Amino acid sequence: MTQVRGCPVSHTEYGEDSELYHHYALLDAEREAARFHYNDTRPRGFYMLQRYEDVLEGFQKHAVWTTHARSALNPGSAIALLPQDLNGQDHVKLRRVLNPFFSPAAVKRMEELAHTRCVELVEEVLPKGECDFVAEFAIRYPTDLFLALLGLPVSDGEFFLPWSETLFAGFFGGDPRETEEARRKILDYFDTAVNERRAAPRDPKEDMVSRLIEARIDGEPISQEDILTICMTLMLAGLDTTRSALGYMFTHLATHEEDRRRIIAEPEVVPAAVEEFIRLYPLVFQAGREVQEPEDFHGLELEKGDVVWLGIAQANRDPRKYPDPDRFVIGRKGVNQNLAFGAGPHRCLGMHLARLELAVVLREWHRRIPDYRIRPGTVLTERGGQLTMPSLPLEWTV
Ligand code: HEM
Repeated sequence: MTQVRGCPVSHTEYGEDSELYHHYALLDAEREAARFHYNDTRPRGFYMLQRYEDVLEGFQKHAVWTTHARSALNPGSAIALLPQDLNGQDHVKLRRVLNPFFSPAAVKRMEELAHTRCVELVEEVLPKGECDFVAEFAIRYPTDLFLALLGLPVSDGEFFLPWSETLFAGFFGGDPRETEEARRKILDYFDTAVNERRAAPRDPKEDMVSRLIEARIDGEPISQEDILTICMTLMLAGLDTTRSALGYMFTHLATHEEDRRRIIAEPEVVPAAVEEFIRLYPLVFQAGREVQEPEDFHGLELEKGDVVWLGIAQANRDPRKYPDPDRFVIGRKGVNQNLAFGAGPHRCLGMHLARLELAVVLREWHRRIPDYRIRPGTVLTERGGQLTMPSLPLEWTV
């Protein structure tokens, strides 16, 4: 077998659409075949870390493995993201400004809105007896909450959503001209919103945009361009992920009646169920890092400039960490140590919000639509790159 620096070479393509769960099958097989792989499917090949302990250690090496390559699959992305693109003290300083808006206490304040919007959306689809869960519910819900977080009218979701969809598709091979046009429209939209806030500031403790305008980092204000990048990053990081998590959760629940019954009968287990769903179905299945200094990582010789793949999904489904990893076990030992949200200083800024959103949906949907099934004859698929289900047709009796 061909080797690069002692690693077996993998030609597995992780960016392509496939039938549902195919990526997990590939990832699990590669983790069990060898501790490390060198994947040669990209112009900058990457070294794959796949076991839980290795991936965790990789996230903790942030001082020397930086986000100059945010994704091993797309290390040279032209789209700037903040705070992701920062490292070291610059990153810490910006996270200090943003963290208060995403703390558990701040997120708790969003619970009422999350609840109200969820109920409205469920009640909209309920009388129809069917819906495409992804298009009609799972993406609309986080989009509305995202707009509310930024203090923008929820009704803007109608035109905002198609732009964000086009922009997101651009990360995974969409038309570059359309991507750029969508990016421009979104930035213009945020630009207007930020300028309105400059003219009429709100309470910076409650309003994130006002706080970003008012904040000083080393005595300097955050530039308009950076504020717009932060808004766009939150959009890119928060909408597709939440939609995807909901798709996998509801596919599971539609096909595992016992688990669905338990969530309905014991709503108090919902937070633990959310955590186990996040472990079992990680949709951001890898993060990338760029090596800044040569080193020997447990026998893997790395050089400056190498791209490393931190295999989030492989870690979460590693039997060395989670015995019988394919099973959904509410209350599983060590579930809170799963790496679906990453680890270390770049750990997901929105994780408490995501958990809240998912828990609210589990409770409120099942209160109103406890029994549902996937439309018979449906072939479910998933997008590669960063997993999401393009469609999930559900039906129920009304
Ligand atoms: C189930 C939902 C979500 C999952 C699985 C997820 C996953 C992740 C992962 C794995 C990272 C770390 C990437 C790395 O280390 O390179 C991350 C970072 C991030 N996430 Fe999330 N995320 C979710 C929801 C959200 C939401 C709702 C928001 C905001 C509204 C958000 C905002 C961010 C931001 C800003 C970062 C960058 C943090 C930094 O670099 O300091 N995410 N997310």
